[in-house]
Amino acid sequence: MIMHSPPMISSLINALPKAELHIHVEGTLEPELILEFAKKNKVQIPYNSVEEIKKAYRFKNLEDFLNLYYSGLRVLKDEDDFYTLTMNYLERANENNIRHVELSFDPQAHTRRGVKFEDVIEGIHSALKDGKKKYGISWLLILSILRDLSVEDAMQTLSKAEEYKDIIGAIGLDSSEFGNPPSKFKKVFEKAKTLGFHRVAHAGEEGPPSYIHEAIELGVERIDHGIRAIEDEKLMQELGKMRIAFTLCPLSNLKLNVVKSLENYPLREFSKAGIMVTINSDDPPYFGGYINKNYEEVAKALDLKPEEIIEIAKNSIIASFAPERRKREILRKINKVEKNYLDNT
Ligand code: HPA
Ligand code: ZN
Repeated sequence: MIMHSPPMISSLINALPKAELHIHVEGTLEPELILEFAKKNKVQIPYNSVEEIKKAYRFKNLEDFLNLYYSGLRVLKDEDDFYTLTMNYLERANENNIRHVELSFDPQAHTRRGVKFEDVIEGIHSALKDGKKKYGISWLLILSILRDLSVEDAMQTLSKAEEYKDIIGAIGLDSSEFGNPPSKFKKVFEKAKTLGFHRVAHAGEEGPPSYIHEAIELGVERIDHGIRAIEDEKLMQELGKMRIAFTLCPLSNLKLNVVKSLENYPLREFSKAGIMVTINSDDPPYFGGYINKNYEEVAKALDLKPEEIIEIAKNSIIASFAPERRKREILRKINKVEKNYLDNT
């Protein structure tokens, strides 16, 4: 039937206003920018061309990817670099019709190599403010704690977040999962709650379902990835009852061999259990696509119906930490697209 043809699905995905809730600003570093910053900042890199960089983007697992990710972000040195990086993402976000973004950044990955916290956050913040003016994209900044570093380091980083409470809206948890369960950061997340931050955590990407359970115990309000919940029926039911949101990143999961193919991607199973599923891009140049591409590839593999795609876009707004007024504003726009689509098919 013509109604579900790929071009029509693509144009629906593009027409839908969306929120992106799982995106690492350092993971938006395009190969072109790596070369440009390396030259400008005189940082030695093992590549001479965009092609060489792209060729290196083959990963066996999360660890493999993280090695390249941390190596790539060494080219970022000053406030201007963080501004340019963030602006570059916002331009693409706008092209993908993202109306609200909750952007993660990894300050410890910069402070540990001598870059000032202030330069990182000022650069990102200036770009977010300009992006709001230029594209109308509302935003919230997520300071992500590197879970493979110590709790003391995390606590110091949280003190920095406190200084920037007017800019940072949430605390997250990312990096190498195995051996670094959420419970390691109980103290950090308790303090983050007391300070009034929203809380999210990567869990069940490579780590076992028990890590998702631990993340819930930490009091997080969303789970980043959560994909391995599919292995634990009881956990799925609990999560569904809570109506917790998962920020799924299909192309990331595929590239890091977390799933074998998208044909078996458990999005419908999560949704049926009551989990609020959202689709996001994680680290787009590394994984082969921005948000619309992630929607498209899943829609194609699972033959998602237009109603299901619209539901996922709505979930992204509902599960965001945007003010209620802003949520209603974007949801109204989605309703218009929905009506338009139904009238024309
Ligand atoms: N997982 C964990 N840590 C990360 C990721 C990811 O996909 N991207 C950037 N840091
Ligand atoms: Zn991530």
